[in-house]
Amino acid sequence: MIGRLAAAPGPEPAPLLPLEVEGLVVELGGKRLLDGLSFTLRPRRCTLILGPNGAGKSLLLRVLHGLVPPSRGRLRWAEPDPARRRLAQAFVFQKPVLLRRSVRGDLTVALAARGVLRRERRARIAEALALVGLEGFEGRAARSLSGGEQQRLALARAWALRPQLLLLDEPTASLDPAATRMVEAIVRDLAGRGVTIVMSTHDLGQARRLAEDVLFLHAGRLVEASEAAAFFARPSSREAGAFLAGELLA
Ligand SMILES: Nc1ncnc2c1ncn2[C@@H]1O[C@H](COP(=O)(O)OP(=O)(O)O)[C@@H](O)[C@H]1O
Ligand SMILES: [Mg+2]
Repeated sequence: MIGRLAAAPGPEPAPLLPLEVEGLVVELGGKRLLDGLSFTLRPRRCTLILGPNGAGKSLLLRVLHGLVPPSRGRLRWAEPDPARRRLAQAFVFQKPVLLRRSVRGDLTVALAARGVLRRERRARIAEALALVGLEGFEGRAARSLSGGEQQRLALARAWALRPQLLLLDEPTASLDPAATRMVEAIVRDLAGRGVTIVMSTHDLGQARRLAEDVLFLHAGRLVEASEAAAFFARPSSREAGAFLAGELLA
């Protein structure tokens, strides 16, 4: 059943979101790294996970993607079937994970693994490369691209899989300002197409440019969960106020 669903474009999948997270605790190596997080992820919103280094941003994203199990607490997705959820979400890492193949080959492998048929693959690859401004790059070795181009390819690959939810872990952390702005423009474009975005950053300027909702983490705790305008205008916690003032360095 799942295989057939994956192979065919088919009807609109059941919505993955909202997600209600209740009392999420993650303990690893005897340390409590996420400490009782509760929040709701709303569909079709751009949510930025903010916080200093070591706050737990990457870990939270990995839990949301099913890569790390909660030690305690619950994730209540609107879509109850884990196999369908897996098909409905995509993850982009800080350092793009690309195959030792051409750009076309990298995208083809991802689409073929999802059972997308050859003709449909060609159309999706062309559309995804156009979306990220990499038309004409099909024959280039994926790993020969610049850092910014590689990250745009990772975004093209994610989009080609038609996720409802896109998780991005500091996707611009190693990019220069121009490449960063291109990635942000793509994220905004995807959000405009109805993809729910959850993205971590320690870059406040980036959060101001992109966020609709903010989750502010500090030392494994969710200190604030609010709409971006309210967060930036009136942070309600001392930690967020200090972070916004640029005082909190670690
Ligand atoms: N697999 C792991 N085992 C033990 N500690 C971990 C593991 N993954 C992350 N941590 C710790 O959890 C904390 C949060 O890490 P991380 O989520 O990477 O923070 P951020 O992305 O906000 O910089 C850090 O103290 C980190 O060392
Ligand atoms: Mg991180």
